[in-house]
Amino acid sequence: MHVFVLTGAGISAESGIDTFREPNGSGLWSRFDPMKLATPEAFQQRPAEVQAFYNWRRQRLIETRPNPAHLALARFGQELHEVGGRLTLVTQNIDDLHERAGSSDVLHMHGELLKARCLVCQGVSECRGEISPHSRCVACGQIGALRPHVVWFGETPLFLDLIAEWLPTADLFVAIGTSGAVYPAAGFVAEAHRHGVKTCEINLDPADNASLFDQSIYGLASHCVPAWCERTLASLKAPPSG
Ligand code: APR
Repeated sequence: MHVFVLTGAGISAESGIDTFREPNGSGLWSRFDPMKLATPEAFQQRPAEVQAFYNWRRQRLIETRPNPAHLALARFGQELHEVGGRLTLVTQNIDDLHERAGSSDVLHMHGELLKARCLVCQGVSECRGEISPHSRCVACGQIGALRPHVVWFGETPLFLDLIAEWLPTADLFVAIGTSGAVYPAAGFVAEAHRHGVKTCEINLDPADNASLFDQSIYGLASHCVPAWCERTLASLKAPPSG
């Protein structure tokens, strides 16, 4: 069985990482203007402000830990592999909580907060501290040419070719903790339908594209994801009836 999972900020919310759009207005984009902090133009016009925003988010990330949803998904991937199945894990999140929970081969379609990219050589390197005008590229040695390895609004997400190749081959598409507000990720459920792939949404509230899912499970990811993983694996391991 090939399961294709897309995660969003909601899976990391209970680890203390801000989501972006919350009905009560507590999301990150209600407190900060993404057009002033998360676009190439903003970086060009106000590099220090943009770097400070991502340095602040990077510092906060390092103080957080994976929650039961990340851990359950990591175990699910390992156990699915043991019974001959396959998990494709695509995340819109720029945190490393899936990896720290034990997941591997995670496709970060919006980039990674703990990586920096050089504007001169395009080299991508680990970054757990601050990026400043004095930061040096480990690949080419250039000083002052590093940016966060994060996909900003108006830039092309990563791994779209792999996603386009693998999504149609899935038996099940599961979206976890995403509002379905940002494309192309929000369009994956319709693409799955076009290829006859069953779809399931696990979320705190119905996403913008909730009506497109075959099944919906509403509640906290830390409760719903472990329960879903357990049920799905049990059904896979159950002897064929009849
Ligand atoms: N458990 C499950 N779902 C949750 C939880 C939780 N504890 N807390 C919040 N959610 C749900 C919300 O109901 C919402 O539908 O997670 C979703 C978070 O939505 P967004 O904040 O819009 O995050 P996301 O969908 O990942 O945003 C997509 O937008 O700004 C860009 O690059 C950014 O990757 C991000 C993209």
